[in-house]
Amino acid sequence: MADGREVGRTADEQQHATTKVVMISIVAAIGGFLFGFDTSVINGAVDAVTDRFAMGSTLSGFAVSCALLGAAVGAWFAGRIADRFGRKAVMVTGGVLFAIGAVGSAFAFAVWDLILWRVVGGVGVGVASVIAPTYIAEVAPAYIRGRLGSLQQLAITVGIFVALLSDAFIARNAGTAADTTWLGWEAWRWMFVVGVVPSLLWAFLALQVPESPRYLIAQGETQKATDVLRQVLGDRSLEALQRKVSEIRQSMRREDEPSLRDLRGPRFGLLPIVWVGILLSVFQQAVGINVIFYYSTTLWKAVGFQESQALTTSVITSVTNVVVTFIAIATVDRIGRKPLLTLGSAGMFVSLTMMAVAFSQATGSGKDVSLPQPWGTIGVIFANVYVISFGATWGPVVWVLLGEMFPNKIRAAGLAVAAAAQWLANFAISTSFPSLAKLGLQYAYGLYALIALLSFVFVRRAVQETKGQELEDMGAESEAPRSA
Ligand code: BGC
Repeated sequence: MADGREVGRTADEQQHATTKVVMISIVAAIGGFLFGFDTSVINGAVDAVTDRFAMGSTLSGFAVSCALLGAAVGAWFAGRIADRFGRKAVMVTGGVLFAIGAVGSAFAFAVWDLILWRVVGGVGVGVASVIAPTYIAEVAPAYIRGRLGSLQQLAITVGIFVALLSDAFIARNAGTAADTTWLGWEAWRWMFVVGVVPSLLWAFLALQVPESPRYLIAQGETQKATDVLRQVLGDRSLEALQRKVSEIRQSMRREDEPSLRDLRGPRFGLLPIVWVGILLSVFQQAVGINVIFYYSTTLWKAVGFQESQALTTSVITSVTNVVVTFIAIATVDRIGRKPLLTLGSAGMFVSLTMMAVAFSQATGSGKDVSLPQPWGTIGVIFANVYVISFGATWGPVVWVLLGEMFPNKIRAAGLAVAAAAQWLANFAISTSFPSLAKLGLQYAYGLYALIALLSFVFVRRAVQETKGQELEDMGAESEAPRSA
């Protein structure tokens, strides 16, 4: 079937439907905001929390990274709950879990309960990371699906930026993150509690949006699904809507309940498309992007910046990260997903290689590492080229693809497994970085450069272009991946 601009619609109807689908996609994308906020908010609080509970460095590292493990668990189960209880129910659950985690962390009285609340919040974030892309892909008309899917990344990057700003504002108000401020609470407690606002807002707004038409059809709610499709696709003729409904029904036909068993296949136990999803996720993390976001202050100090300059530079990097997402929004439905990914891999390979070369010139070691000129400047320039290369391509495009590339029948389950793999990869890369950095930052960046090169080959060989295709046509579930 042709795209959403089809048959018998006036410009006004088209406009109305587009506005509606953009609004409901923005609501779903608040889940992305929570994702970014949570992974970043701990940065401003970690030192104060470490001192408050007298943690050693290993325990302190775990208090940061345990949320990533919680997220892997949340992502894993989100698909199942989404297939059973609906996409809206999952958004509400994610928001509530996140809120509980935020309040619990703010009132933590010992290390063990802090870790518990971080894990609970992390589960909420994992849930959010699966449901937002699933829902957006399922309500969006094909011709703008990439742009709407990129809202997820935009929200993640805005979440990272807002958490940094909010931490800085609260800490400045109190003096430091460990000092007391409003209501006599230490500043770090406020840093956590702020997260309650977006999470409850998400849960509340999720109750107002329509249920996904693909889920409704799977439940046999044809009339409701037709109404939602009319709202998001515009006033198509009844006949065209019915045709769409029957196509969706056809693509979801099954005798039993959806489950993770559906992902089983001939190659190493899984369907090829599921392997592609997992590898997209793992490559997105293994190029080391979160090393830049989680450890940027160390990096900037190494190139000779004072602490405050290093913090400002981190804020600038996070703004760059937001801004470059618009490059993807502007191009993903025009030039497609694959060309953006290959360009991104090439840009990351070059910039990471240059960073490795720059850091091979470093003097000193550990926290006292520093770069002589001109290598310091070269390091700064290519770190930014790297963030731009990722933020305009692999950041948004992986989430767009994960939302849309699986056939209807296995979408939620496939995305859940791929997202869980992404959280585990994030955990592995961010916890191994400090040891790698001890060996020498050039080895860390050299390794990420090599992975960027492999990601180029992977995209060329295994990823299929999905630009402009209807979700009902994503049917390559049992075929080997082929290049587009
Ligand atoms: C990744 C996150 C990362 C963010 C950076 C997202 O696509 O999934 O792990 O922190 O991009 O902007």
